[in-house]
Amino acid sequence: GADGDPNILALPEHSRTLGKPVAANPYGVPSAHETNLLRRESPGLTRVSAASVAFTPLQGLFGIITPSGLHFERHHQGWHDIDPGKHRLMINGMVKRQKVYTMDDLMRMPSVSRMHFIECGANTAMEWGNVAVPSVQYSHGMLSCSEFTGVPLSVLLEDCGFDKHNARVVLAEGADGSSMTRTIPIDRALDDVLVAWGMNGEMLRPENGYPLRLVVPGVQGVSWVKWLRRIEVGDKPYASKDEAIHYMDAMPDGSYRQYTSIQECKSVITSPSAGQALLDTGFYNITGLAWSGRGKIKRVDVSVDGGKNWRTARLETPVLSKCLTRFNIDWEWSGNPAVLQSRAIDDTGYVQPKINELRAVRGTRSIYHNNAIQSWQVAQTGEVSNVQVY
Ligand code: MTE
Repeated sequence: GADGDPNILALPEHSRTLGKPVAANPYGVPSAHETNLLRRESPGLTRVSAASVAFTPLQGLFGIITPSGLHFERHHQGWHDIDPGKHRLMINGMVKRQKVYTMDDLMRMPSVSRMHFIECGANTAMEWGNVAVPSVQYSHGMLSCSEFTGVPLSVLLEDCGFDKHNARVVLAEGADGSSMTRTIPIDRALDDVLVAWGMNGEMLRPENGYPLRLVVPGVQGVSWVKWLRRIEVGDKPYASKDEAIHYMDAMPDGSYRQYTSIQECKSVITSPSAGQALLDTGFYNITGLAWSGRGKIKRVDVSVDGGKNWRTARLETPVLSKCLTRFNIDWEWSGNPAVLQSRAIDDTGYVQPKINELRAVRGTRSIYHNNAIQSWQVAQTGEVSNVQVY
């Protein structure tokens, strides 16, 4: 206004006084002004919060790394903060030398650090039948991406002298009450699977498996066994409860697909997204995330008219295998209604399907592996909402 902006004209307190000392927060915390970006539980989704999920607020994050405190949480029977001094990893089954490792044993081994996404197989599950949830946090927030540090599982299997001729699978088992056990084919176990203790440069957070978890790049989150306590080498799939009863894809003909583990190529616009509002016409940066369990993202196209016309988005570097890729594209909003969509293509040539294309093959009764193109509708008022466009 005519009097000028007091935020410029009046010298603020912080420019006139001594600030807080170093190490006032020996472990740093977010600004007191940043209170809205939180992991959130979907009300009424499960009967008990110990067997539930808290979603990552994708709508407010930048780049590709999820801050550790906002990494999504999915527990079948709650989480524990396990004493690393008492934690053990046993390797048994078809091995010459059955072994028990302490955390100290493991952390002396040659380790690697790699950036990977983790996505729950049930991410976007609510949208199989119809539009169900009000924001990208709830529709896509069982997705996070971190730098994980650990020893390759192949190193441990070699150390135990696993049976190279007859081993077909490994079984991974967690130390929580849910007895989480998952079968992993031996070729994958020997490829890029990590027995990890590190996440984003520090030890894993308790909610994410401290002190030890399996990292199974490209594969649905359930196989990333947390609080990992045992690996058994075997010659056939174990068909444990989490692979014989749960985590199966209901097909339209009444049959079930088992052991569908890969997270296929998928993308979503994180801003603007449902629950947000455009305050004015003019320039917007449409931004989002793309990922594929089979490799790198090759291209992302964006439509602002519900899939009639597509433009190719800018991929931000780095573009890594089985990792989130950030895309951006310029947009001038005229003030007319619009439908925003993104469509990812990975380096195998696979194209992310439309929801009706996916339903034609998979029906609507499934829970898992919904990687359909997501549509966000921008109303004339600027309000953005979740819609399905065929
Ligand atoms: N491991 C154990 N031991 N117990 C669990 O409940 N949940 C699984 C998996 N590993 C689970 C587990 C599921 S379903 C997912 S999606 C991922 O962990 C979630 O990992 P996060 O909580 O670190 O996001």
